Amino acid sequence: MTVIAVVPAAGRGERLGLGVPKAFVEVDGRPLLLHAVQALLAGGVDRVVVAVPESELDPARTLLGPEITVVAGGADRTASVAAALLAAGSDCDVILVHDAARAFVPPELVRRVIAAVRAGSRAVVPVLPVTDTVRGVLTDLAADGSRNEHSSGVIDRAGLRAVQTPQGFEPGLLRDAYRHASAGGRSATDDASLVENLGVTVDFVPGDAEAAKVTTAADLAAVRARRELPLPASGSGLRVGIGVDVHPIEQGRACWLAGLLFPDDDGCAGHSDGDVAAHAICDALLTAAGLGDLGSVFGTDDPQWAGAAGSTLLAETVRLVALAGFDVVNVAVQIIANTPRFADRRTEAQQTLSTTVGAPVSVAATTTDGLGLTGRGEGRAAQATALLVSRNSAVAGRSS
Ligand code: CTP
Ligand code: MG
Repeated sequence: MTVIAVVPAAGRGERLGLGVPKAFVEVDGRPLLLHAVQALLAGGVDRVVVAVPESELDPARTLLGPEITVVAGGADRTASVAAALLAAGSDCDVILVHDAARAFVPPELVRRVIAAVRAGSRAVVPVLPVTDTVRGVLTDLAADGSRNEHSSGVIDRAGLRAVQTPQGFEPGLLRDAYRHASAGGRSATDDASLVENLGVTVDFVPGDAEAAKVTTAADLAAVRARRELPLPASGSGLRVGIGVDVHPIEQGRACWLAGLLFPDDDGCAGHSDGDVAAHAICDALLTAAGLGDLGSVFGTDDPQWAGAAGSTLLAETVRLVALAGFDVVNVAVQIIANTPRFADRRTEAQQTLSTTVGAPVSVAATTTDGLGLTGRGEGRAAQATALLVSRNSAVAGRSS
């Protein structure tokens, strides 16, 4: 049971008029394309294939990482979806098509569309009622060749729905629709209409105002107003985060702490290498950036991270924080444990962690005077704080 999402993101954003392809315009420190892909993954999509302008292939691959397939789009949306579909393969039970420009689609809407296909809809689109009065247009040609528009009358909006994405399809049907469209040289602004050309009924699920498409400068201003945390009064753009981690000690296990290997075999048990200091720093960085925590980002039982070194998780965390638009100002971590003896290697630990984080990391160590689980030698703990600065803020750049 696999869900593939195809994301057309190869438009030029002419109506937005910023001179950058729209999918790469940033809101809250992240490009629209990254917001869109993250929303799809959060909504239960397993694989994503993105179509971007030819000129943006490398930046998109760097932005999205190796898990996301990136291909060059085409001259119009239909051609871009067709290119992405070719790269998507057919190993799935549901296929979604979702505009990168609808970057803030709630994950619940993504789930709703997937569920509708799994419940038997061959083609499903999210819709909203039309709230404005709608009029048809008549155009007539004046004697001097100019065109005049006037109303052909009101169209009953009760019988109309505004259509959003993601649109969901039975995979074979969508492929047939695209084959048919390309044979007939047809294109369309949405995918369900190509399926309708095959005589298939398109079903509705309720849409969501948050899935609105960013088309104009006013749309962008509106999403920025909703999504970007107001800067503090000082305009500093500083964010602070906190993290704590505790692991039981397991005799016979290698002891990794603060990115260093210690000689005694009394390391910490856990899904990864049990480096409580590295893990506490990860949570401090993630909470400061508002990206969740170790469990939600890496998964506590994801086999990809089984036995992962603390420094590997930390490096990946630093990458995500940078993608979210932040520079690290500094990190402080305190280890709470009876063993190992840390004082002799504090400087080395600080250097190792600072290199991984790309900013100063200070390390302290203490015991709890024989009290509690750390005092009894049952486990080790660490707590960390991190300070980040948003790259869009007034003080950005002063930290380095
Ligand atoms: N799209 C695409 N390939 C194209 C044109 C559009 O993949 N050749 C994508 C856009 O990137 C967007 C979605 O289709 O995610 C909807 O298109 P639209 O909102 O029209 O975006 P743009 O074409 O970028 O904007 P504009 O029409 O203002 O240039
Ligand atoms: Mg367009």
